[in-house]
Amino acid sequence: MIIAVDGPAAAGKGTLARALARRYNFHFLDTGALYRMVGLAVLQAGRDPHDEAAALEAAQGLKPDLTHEQDLRSEDVGAAASIVAANLKVREALLGFQRQFAQRAPGAVLDGRDIGTVVCPDAEVKIFVTASPEVRAERRHAELAERGEAPSLETVLDDIHARDERDRTRAHAPLVPARDAYVLETSQMTREQALNSAIAYVEMRRK
Ligand code: DC
Repeated sequence: MIIAVDGPAAAGKGTLARALARRYNFHFLDTGALYRMVGLAVLQAGRDPHDEAAALEAAQGLKPDLTHEQDLRSEDVGAAASIVAANLKVREALLGFQRQFAQRAPGAVLDGRDIGTVVCPDAEVKIFVTASPEVRAERRHAELAERGEAPSLETVLDDIHARDERDRTRAHAPLVPARDAYVLETSQMTREQALNSAIAYVEMRRK
C-alpha cells in the first residue's frame, strides 16, 4: 500500500506522514529532503541554485542519505531546494529512487508536492494537507525558534508566500491536489485531530 501525502511548505505534512508510517509500520520517505540535499550540494559547491547544469550535476550525483536531516532544515536550504525543484531534469533524476522506495513492502508513506500526481499516481491513499499561509508561517517560525534560528514572523511569512508561488506556478509537477486526493485543511486543527482525520480516511480506503 502507498500513502501519498502532499501539500505546501510547513503544512504539517512531515509530522502527519511520519505518524501514519509509525501507525501502519510502513517505510517513510520525506521527498522534500531529496530536493533539499540537491539544493545543499549546489550551495556547498559555491554555485547558484538557478544554474541548471550545477543543479543537474548535484541531482545525478546524489546518494540519498537520510541520516543528516537536521542540516537540511534551514531556510536557505529550503529556498535553494524550491529553486532546483523547478528544474525538470532534476525532477526526472530523482524520480526512480522515489518510485522504487514506494514499492517497499509492506507499504510506504511518501510526503512531498507531487507524490499523488506524478510520482505515485496509482497510490491507494492520497492526502493533501494544507493550512493558511499565516498558520503555516506561525508553525514554521516556532519550529525555527526551537532550533535557535530566529528570523521574524514576517520574514517567514514572506518566504512561505514566495515558496508557494514558485511551487504552484512551475511548469513541471506544480503543487496541486490530485483529483482523487482527500484535502485535509488543518488551520483549525491540532496535530492529533489532523492525524485522527487522516487515519479515518486511510481506514475507509483500506476497506
Ligand atoms: O517539503 P520541503 O519544504 O522540505 O520541500 C522543499 C522544496 O522541495 C519545496 O519548496 C519544493 C520541493 N519539492 C518538490 O518540488 N517536490 C517534492 N515531492 C518535494 C519537495
